[in-house]
Amino acid sequence: MSLHVLTGGAGFIATNLIRRLIDLGETVFALDDMSRGRPDFWAPLQDQPRFRSAIVDCADLEAYRTALDTTVNDGGIAAIWHLAANSDIPAGIADPRIDLQRTFLTTFNTLVLMREFSIPTLNFASSSAIYGDHGETVIHEDIGPLEPISNYGAMKLASEAQIRAAVEAFLPKANVFRFPNVVGVPATHGVLIDFVDKLRATPHRLDVLGDGTQRKAYLDVEELVDAMLFIAAQAQGRHNVFNVGPPDRGVTVREIAEAVRDRVSPGAEIRYGTGGRGWVGDVPRFRYATDRLAALGWRPQHDSIGAVRRAVDQIVAQELGRR
Ligand SMILES: NC(=O)c1ccc[n+]([C@@H]2O[C@H](COP(=O)([O-])OP(=O)(O)OC[C@H]3O[C@@H](n4cnc5c(N)ncnc54)[C@H](O)[C@@H]3O)[C@@H](O)[C@H]2O)c1
Repeated sequence: MSLHVLTGGAGFIATNLIRRLIDLGETVFALDDMSRGRPDFWAPLQDQPRFRSAIVDCADLEAYRTALDTTVNDGGIAAIWHLAANSDIPAGIADPRIDLQRTFLTTFNTLVLMREFSIPTLNFASSSAIYGDHGETVIHEDIGPLEPISNYGAMKLASEAQIRAAVEAFLPKANVFRFPNVVGVPATHGVLIDFVDKLRATPHRLDVLGDGTQRKAYLDVEELVDAMLFIAAQAQGRHNVFNVGPPDRGVTVREIAEAVRDRVSPGAEIRYGTGGRGWVGDVPRFRYATDRLAALGWRPQHDSIGAVRRAVDQIVAQELGRR
């Protein structure tokens, strides 16, 4: 039994990861500042003896250190899964300090404390946003130049650079997962829940940002967690970087809007905006090369459209349950 620290532990992806780690017999200490996290995601875990939690701002080094100090046991901490970040990309465009604090400084502080506490492994939630806009080019892990077009992507890339330097200086192992768009439940943000909620509010009409031609890869959150655990167990290097996603061309926003409309309010009119981007900093299309992960032995079961359809069903059930 090892102790795993999860930052951003009350978020969408962390909630799924915590369940899997506990099922695997691990002990989990979840930290979250609740800027976007949901305390109710922790409620079902409170009676679980292998689960601990604290509301902590990981950008505050002293508070973060105190949280680790009070929880670390004789066996030490096996790994930090660093998922804390600002997940609201437009908010970070409006105020870049949000990404500096929540996305970069949380990484910087995580590395400071990993050194202090001699924590051997960092598992980092990175993003396709670090690549920037490569159009139709299939993006493999070593492509360049890396020119992110959002503050979020810039701070994820800066985090990756800081992690690389830490591996050189003191950190025994870092696994860097570059996520695509991740879908599933419990959904708190993203295009699917936006469309579901819009259609429940105005069942006759769905307004879409951009012209609907944006095309991206989507991965089911349960499969993402599976891939993270697989890489953490199998990757042998000290600095392991993986694109995680389906090998397909992705799904257009138009296809997503139609899938949600057909499921939630079949008669609704879909009204598209103009331009190929949903918002400033939105990468209109990307396509991953996932050969590195396939060579390690992991492939998703669902393609992008399959993941989207499954998630729409799950999110509709989630939102009806909240009525
Ligand atoms: N969901 C996706 O499609 C996607 C895609 C690429 C990368 N990622 C990355 O995966 C990770 C998890 O994303 P998610 O979708 O679960 O988002 P999320 O917003 O649900 O989870 C992030 C959590 O971090 C917390 N947090 C933010 N700043 C913090 C701070 N200073 N201290 C402590 N906690 C803080 C938030 O409250 C939130 O609960 C993030 O790092 C995100 O950038 C997600």
